[in-house]
Amino acid sequence: MGFLKESIAMSARAKRCHKQWAAHYTQCQQAILKAAINCPEHRTILIFGAGSLNDVPLAILANQFKKVILVDLIFLKSAKQKAAKFDNVELVEHDITESLDDIKQGKPNVQIPSRWLDCDDIDLVVSLNLITQLPLIPVRWLIKKHKFSEEQGDVVGKQLIAVLTRFFR
Ligand SMILES: C[S@@+](CC[C@H](N)C(=O)[O-])C[C@H]1O[C@@H](n2cnc3c(N)ncnc32)[C@H](O)[C@@H]1O
Repeated sequence: MGFLKESIAMSARAKRCHKQWAAHYTQCQQAILKAAINCPEHRTILIFGAGSLNDVPLAILANQFKKVILVDLIFLKSAKQKAAKFDNVELVEHDITESLDDIKQGKPNVQIPSRWLDCDDIDLVVSLNLITQLPLIPVRWLIKKHKFSEEQGDVVGKQLIAVLTRFFR
């Protein structure tokens, strides 16, 4: 659908714009650490949209938490190498909407995601600049490949965002 291309393009943009993006990465890392400090327990942290890991304070989190689960549709080699340095860091390539297989075929069935919702040892869930990005590629795909109107695409996009908010209640 274009996720791999976008991932490679973003990695190139991050290198090109590293000076301009540095403050953003620092602020993301600080926000995660602030949330982590406020956790009463430090068993598992689950980070959605970890991508390049540039905005993840990985060494500190791996030290603070028993387990760090990093989730993204795609991890490029550089992210895999960073994560491999830690025994308690797990990379999971997974579609958190659990809806992309259907959307790819033009079926706008937005599922209620189930993975991890039954885990009772997760103390912190982070959406790392992900939730607002979730609809972009799927909606563009439905409009281009399956002739959806902008309005129909908008409905699917809003549903994709809405179902994910249940992780953050
Ligand atoms: C704005 S990027 C942030 C990435 C990362 N935090 C970084 O700065 O490199 C959004 C990330 O969400 C991932 N993503 C988009 N849709 C997803 C989905 N349905 N399931 C899991 N990850 C998804 C993309 O692959 C991308 O890495």
